[in-house]
Amino acid sequence: MLDIEAILSQMTLEEKATFCTGATPWSTLAIERLGVPSIVMTDGPHGVRRASDPRTLSAKSLPATCFPTASCTASTWNPALLQRMGEAMAEEAIALNVDILLGPGVNMKRSPLGGRNFEYFSEDPYLAGEMAVALINGIQSKGVGTSIKHYAANNQEFERFTISAEVDERTLREIYLPAFEAAVKRAKPWTVMCSYNKINGTFGSEHRHLLTEILKGEWGFEGVVVSDWGAVRDRVKSLAGGLDLEMPGPKPAHVRALIEAVKSGQVSEEALNESVRRILRLVDQALRTPKGGTFDVDAHHALARQIAAEGMVLLKNNGILPLKEVKKVAVIGRSAREPYFQGGGSSNINPTRVDVPLDELQKQGEGIQWTYAEGYAVDESLHPEMIDEAVRIAREADVALIFVALPPSKESEGYDRQDLDLSRQQIALIQAVAKEQPGTVVILNNGAPVVMSEWIDGVAAVLEAWMMGQAGAGAIADILFGKVNPSGKLAETFPVRLADTPAYLNWPGEAGKVRYGEGLYIGYRYYDAKGVPVLFPFGYGLSYTTFAYSNPRVSATTFRDVDGVTVYVDVTNTGKVAGKEIVQVYVHDRQASLSRPVKELKGFAKVELQPGETRTVAIPLDFRAFAFYHPEYNQWITESGEFDILIGASSVDIRHTLTVTLESTLELPCILNMESTVREWLADPRGKVVFGPMFEQMRREMARTMSGGEESNELIGMDMMGFLMDMPLVSVLGFQEANLPAPAEVVVADMLAKVHGKA
Ligand code: BGC
Repeated sequence: MLDIEAILSQMTLEEKATFCTGATPWSTLAIERLGVPSIVMTDGPHGVRRASDPRTLSAKSLPATCFPTASCTASTWNPALLQRMGEAMAEEAIALNVDILLGPGVNMKRSPLGGRNFEYFSEDPYLAGEMAVALINGIQSKGVGTSIKHYAANNQEFERFTISAEVDERTLREIYLPAFEAAVKRAKPWTVMCSYNKINGTFGSEHRHLLTEILKGEWGFEGVVVSDWGAVRDRVKSLAGGLDLEMPGPKPAHVRALIEAVKSGQVSEEALNESVRRILRLVDQALRTPKGGTFDVDAHHALARQIAAEGMVLLKNNGILPLKEVKKVAVIGRSAREPYFQGGGSSNINPTRVDVPLDELQKQGEGIQWTYAEGYAVDESLHPEMIDEAVRIAREADVALIFVALPPSKESEGYDRQDLDLSRQQIALIQAVAKEQPGTVVILNNGAPVVMSEWIDGVAAVLEAWMMGQAGAGAIADILFGKVNPSGKLAETFPVRLADTPAYLNWPGEAGKVRYGEGLYIGYRYYDAKGVPVLFPFGYGLSYTTFAYSNPRVSATTFRDVDGVTVYVDVTNTGKVAGKEIVQVYVHDRQASLSRPVKELKGFAKVELQPGETRTVAIPLDFRAFAFYHPEYNQWITESGEFDILIGASSVDIRHTLTVTLESTLELPCILNMESTVREWLADPRGKVVFGPMFEQMRREMARTMSGGEESNELIGMDMMGFLMDMPLVSVLGFQEANLPAPAEVVVADMLAKVHGKA
């Protein structure tokens, strides 16, 4: 255990400044004379990427289990499973002498074009937050730290080191920050990694509002803010903004700049001490975890398979799956032999082993005669002869399984996708095979949605198998043969075409800025609001069984925001095989003072049911399930009134709707100002007291002058009144200044002083 204050008091200014920068690409500085050891951080979100030589950035990494990537794990909607994945990753980190894993990534999938979307969970902040909390809890329960990333608004690869995400405060709070917020408050990640990009003109590494005011202030984050690797431009500004640890190191010039800044008084030594304290606490946390040993390679491989099977999403099935009574199967597609199971970039794992789909199929399909054709090359080149060969074997088989992996050139960290298409060769291959073989099943390996309109109608089934991790091949076989009943549902919308996507017109930005013009309306929030048809909606996924929902109810039909409410529904497995259903609860605000999405996911539960079995699912909804962020009050607010609670099997398959009444307990501060309209003055309780009598007088006066008589022709008077209601009070009074005791500005200033309790 470290005596943090005692160590801090003995550190020289030079030591402190040096300590706030990495010593190597992956470790912090050891201060031997004070007994402070170095700690090691490595990627990443779905496995341990421990460099064999940690002194270099790009050294080959030691073998570790490659779990499925986040697109797949989020589609499980199973936090308990993610917790187990976290525990397994932590065991590997311990065996490989790693103190902190750099993950999970919780950025929102603003556009399906994001090159790194495979590393992120969802287009929905609530779902992403739940998954992050579970994974972090799992990892940290074993004494290994995490680094939730990339804070914030790092939603694209184009100009990722420099571009400024131009996003309004409400959108940040409601869409881009909640997953971080949930994780920070509920799972307490040891570190938070800032993003490379700018947010509204300021680098993530220097962003005082995000790092100090919101993260450390409002959310009470006590850990270390670490830079993304190379994200610090100005070490002095970043320290002042709230960034504690710069990575990677060493960076002598930055350290010198920091020392000079403290000496000249540009930043206070106390600010530096605060960061040093946080890093010392981090080292102390890491010291408590035993290191070394081994991990159970087989057990983790089996867990990776289980997670993959639960995250895969059955998108289409005309009844051909699960496969039964097939004698001859044509397996087509390169990825049946060369599995595509993870993405390129910093999250890339050196797997302990990799299962091959064709082998796994053969293991389970005893007595079946198998044929294979490659179908397409590793790149996007065209090969008609490969298609001919595939068609030939498909024709001779009972079914054709086409394995299609998105070429790595089409998605990776470092660059965005240009389109949502498979390669021309792959599309032609599917079309040609499906034409000859009605029993064609497509198995997709990709990290993000692809469009399918050119071929989906012609095929019998489609399984979205994602970047499925090293054991995903077995999971595919388990699903195709019905050993596992698919239970994944989409954590992101699959659009019909790229031009339908929410950020289409504001992507990827230009002249150094990307404007988040769609605001809150990303993912299903956008498709809902605009009524744009989609290929597969958020929350959708098929099963080999069917589920009925009945007896929906709430713990109270009227409740206070602070008490929340619990939603119950009975779910019955009405089919012939056991299965798992994901019940989703969305909230619709019937009336709000600001524009709100049609509905938002606020709760879900995954339940396992034997055939004929019924279980009651309970989903609690809290204050935040009904609240929205009001940028004028600068806080989350609730408004009294009716809300619909939508219980669904997907975002479009709503089975029951219940209406409840919320009573807001908030006492909001008065935000009337010189620009407030007549309507706003009357809507504000204090404003109404102060302005009400004057308003009554104005109304009477108006009715009289418009009509020549006080009571007659009310209509014209009211119309005029309606027009005046939306003018600033100061402007309305400005027209009548002759009747006022003082200029309109002075009169309103007086009234403002009263409502703000200053007079
Ligand atoms: C990535 C991070 C990663 C870091 C270290 C950066 O380029 O953006 O996600 O953790 O490198 O590899």
